[in-house]
Amino acid sequence: MNQSELAICLSKMKFLLYAFVYCLTSCVGASRINLPPYLKPCSISSPDFEACCLQHGRDALPMILKGDKKLGIPNLLPLVVPHILVDAGKNLKIAFEDIHVFGLDGIDLKQVKIDIKTRKATLKLDVPQLELIGKYEVDGKLLVLPIKGKGDVNMTAIGGHYQYDFEFSTERINGIDHLVVLDNDVLKFELEGAKIRLDNLFDGDKVLGEQMNTFLNDNWKDVIDELGGAVSQTVRSLGRNIASRIFKKVPYKELILD
Ligand SMILES: *[C@@H]1O[C@H](CO)[C@@H](O)[C@H](O)[C@H]1NC(C)=O
Repeated sequence: MNQSELAICLSKMKFLLYAFVYCLTSCVGASRINLPPYLKPCSISSPDFEACCLQHGRDALPMILKGDKKLGIPNLLPLVVPHILVDAGKNLKIAFEDIHVFGLDGIDLKQVKIDIKTRKATLKLDVPQLELIGKYEVDGKLLVLPIKGKGDVNMTAIGGHYQYDFEFSTERINGIDHLVVLDNDVLKFELEGAKIRLDNLFDGDKVLGEQMNTFLNDNWKDVIDELGGAVSQTVRSLGRNIASRIFKKVPYKELILD
């Protein structure tokens, strides 16, 4: 190998080395900058911080609801809830199975409050119609009446105003801080109405079944009071699960800028 050949060889090696180092930094960089294009950050020092979170949240919601394989979020239209168990004391047991929640695409995000100092946040949102469709099994007493049956269920929440309060902290993953939603979260809601349909009550007795459905619908507020806690608990844990999938992939510093 003469000198000029050696020079060419060395420059090739240098090029390869540069390429290697370049790839290394960009690959490492890529694993850190995971912000999907629809998740836009907001700057905490801006006076419009909460308005920014509201706007960016509104923009991101339709994309999140469609699901994102990269973030491990399933399509939420509909949201599938495998089990909801309502264990309201020894007098009433209701199990819901394979519940499909339709209507999340109607979410209207109304307010976002985030307090970075106390690490508390509130989301307020309206959903015009949420339909919970699936299977139920019930045995016991609901609003003092004996009820028993197993079949199809349709519980529809009309004109819902929802408020989700949660606390958050950060968790270090590979030296990078990520947001975590704590599990002392609270979901409150008020409905303008609800429709309840339980098919095949009392072994398919049409008369008793219709009477019970009419009774439940006439007293929907009390029914929701009795079932709401378990439904809200299930929805909260699903919500936390989805949020934590996003937050585990997206560093805190990329969502909330200084
Ligand atoms: C569920 O009930 C609501 C309210 O009555 C109705 O609008 C909707 O069509 C029903 N959904 C199904 C799948 O039956």
